[in-house]
Amino acid sequence: MMAKYNEPLLNEIEEIEEEFLPEEIERKELNIPNLTEREVMKHFLHLSQMNYGVDTGFYPLGSCTMKYNPKLLERIAKNEKIKFVHPLQNEATCQGCLEIMYKLEKLFCEITGMDAFSLQPCAGAHGELTGMLITRAYFEWKGEGDVRKDVIVPDSAHGTNPASAKMAGFNVIEIPSKNGMVDLTALKEALSNETAAFMLTNPNTLGIFEKDILKIAEEVKKVGALLYYDGANLNAILGKTKLGIMGFDIVHLNLHKTFATPHGGGGPGAGPVGVKAYLEKFLPVPRIKKEGEKYKLDYNQPYSIGKVSLFYGNFAVLLKAYAYILRKGKDLEKVAEKAVLNSNYLMERLKRYGFEVPYNGKRMHEFVISLANLRKKGIRALDVAKRLLDYGFHPPTIYFPLIVEEAFMIEPTEDESKETLDKFAETMKKIVEEDINILKNAPHNMPVRRVNEAMAMKKQILTWKDISKLK
Ligand SMILES: Cc1ncc(COP(=O)(O)O)c(C=O)c1O
Repeated sequence: MMAKYNEPLLNEIEEIEEEFLPEEIERKELNIPNLTEREVMKHFLHLSQMNYGVDTGFYPLGSCTMKYNPKLLERIAKNEKIKFVHPLQNEATCQGCLEIMYKLEKLFCEITGMDAFSLQPCAGAHGELTGMLITRAYFEWKGEGDVRKDVIVPDSAHGTNPASAKMAGFNVIEIPSKNGMVDLTALKEALSNETAAFMLTNPNTLGIFEKDILKIAEEVKKVGALLYYDGANLNAILGKTKLGIMGFDIVHLNLHKTFATPHGGGGPGAGPVGVKAYLEKFLPVPRIKKEGEKYKLDYNQPYSIGKVSLFYGNFAVLLKAYAYILRKGKDLEKVAEKAVLNSNYLMERLKRYGFEVPYNGKRMHEFVISLANLRKKGIRALDVAKRLLDYGFHPPTIYFPLIVEEAFMIEPTEDESKETLDKFAETMKKIVEEDINILKNAPHNMPVRRVNEAMAMKKQILTWKDISKLK
């Protein structure tokens, strides 16, 4: 009867339905709960609402630079002209993509003061490993491969630094910090003719700028070693100074931090590696070359360390970074200015509320407070972090860097408003005045209470569950 009422329309609806869920992909034999569309909708929408992200609230995860990612960049990455390009396509048919990568390499050279870049590494740690493999290849080429066995890292270094050096076959020597910075005396003692490289983040993981960087570079070079830059904190100095003039020989950048690509949960990211001219021949293949008006992939690099990832890296991430830099243009340095302003503002507010910030002076884009004095009351940094969840904040990084007791590492980023920073500071004050039992049992308002985080990673529940019954 309905068909008679409006047959053409009904046919159209059926067509749309078929397009929406084609019969050939329906798997009738699947053993899944027999639920209505509405129930499924409620379940998944509820799950999505349990998520927390940079788009939902303050996310001051120190060292990770969880800044806002403009939606324009996502639109650009989804562009029809780009999303169907295949990495196995003949290079003559993807000149546009090669041009973007070529120009992005040049922009990174301009921003960092390095001479050549490879966009291939897919994360910061991957960039570090690439940098360490270049270091090894360089000394092998010089005939010092058997001698240059050591890589030095400060005790404030991110764990991936020593891990990458070790994976590339080096011995790792850790040196202590002094007043939150590299201890020059300790560095000089550790440096020798066996040193291959010194790895450094500047500003370091305490958010302190290593003001002795030129002296550090001089000492490292005196023994013929290389200075490596971990770019996780580039956001603080973007457009203000260049790594090349600080004396770095190899650098990596974390595009998913400084250049606005969403991250967390494992990626996708990008960790391009830049080098001074004398190390260019060791960069991964293929290199992107321009011949006349044509771009090509060049594999003919006999000294190259080879390939470090499938194809050419995470192209969508590279594209977003390219668009971000072009869009910011000359205002790129404002990123650093606002990031540093926000960080110092919040640090001063927390200090006024009695929070202890080890080491004197101003900070760059992030700072680390110590909650050690709460330990007397039995309160740990973890308790405060969990309680912050109840107030709608993602907690900062905790227990890192290792040189600060009960560390709370806060990075507000340039995108946060004064109102958010004020609210966060007031909430911190309120939390540490609360009854200890409230803190110890936090979070109270979250979908799950305090979970065993190690086991949550290892024993995930991946099957369907009626979550209303899990509560
Ligand atoms: C200081 C520092 N170095 C290196 C890394 C490693 O970067 P990725 O997570 O991209 O591998 C991080 C990551 O948070 C970091 O904070």
